Amino acid sequence: MARRGLLISIEGGEKTGKTTQAALLVEWLKAGGVDAVLTREPGGTAVGEAVRSILLDPGQTPLTPVSEALLFAASRGQLVAEVIRPALEVGRTVVADRYVDSSLAYQAFGLGLPLERVLDVNEWATGGLRPDLTVLLDGPDLVAFLSRSRSGEVDRIERRRMDFHLRVAEGYRELARRDPARFAVIDASRPPGKVAADIRRVVEPLLRGREVPGQ
Ligand code: TYD
Repeated sequence: MARRGLLISIEGGEKTGKTTQAALLVEWLKAGGVDAVLTREPGGTAVGEAVRSILLDPGQTPLTPVSEALLFAASRGQLVAEVIRPALEVGRTVVADRYVDSSLAYQAFGLGLPLERVLDVNEWATGGLRPDLTVLLDGPDLVAFLSRSRSGEVDRIERRRMDFHLRVAEGYRELARRDPARFAVIDASRPPGKVAADIRRVVEPLLRGREVPGQ
């Protein structure tokens, strides 16, 4: 069946308020009568949750960068097959809290894996499903993040060094520069209400003129 729903991904580094904003967007869409569903990565399926525990467990140290990239792609592929594609096919709007750009930013720009490889494996895993819109929340408070990292309540990826997270943030900006038609970059250092309003402003035109499911 042809794809009819919208896929909107929300991306950003640590502490950008991404998860809060994704939830607010879904709430707003639903309040406006849009049938919206929220997904989160890694996870969201039985296989995805199992992969998540391998990826984020600080005890799992011997994981090579390539294994890490493949596991993220495997979790994502499962999520697309089981949740995202079926939702899009019946005309639902999917808000994805992280999608392929997370792997490009973290595993390619952050860890230094070749961008084309990471992209290829993700195209393969997702069957080439790309977002209609990607909201990049930019402007993480990396200093606050670093002090939290020192306090010890962090997962395996959060624990990486500051320079890794700076490369991730810059990688995201580079991805946005390369694909300005798909990306909307939003300054996330402002109050959540203002950020949410900006996100709604970029989503609204996409909703207008879309066919109503079943008509
Ligand atoms: P999570 O606890 O969900 O954090 P967040 O709220 O920041 O999304 O953990 C996801 C972590 O995994 C986060 O540090 C980003 C990282 N990640 C990657 O490195 N590559 C990926 O493809 C994805 C989806 C996440």
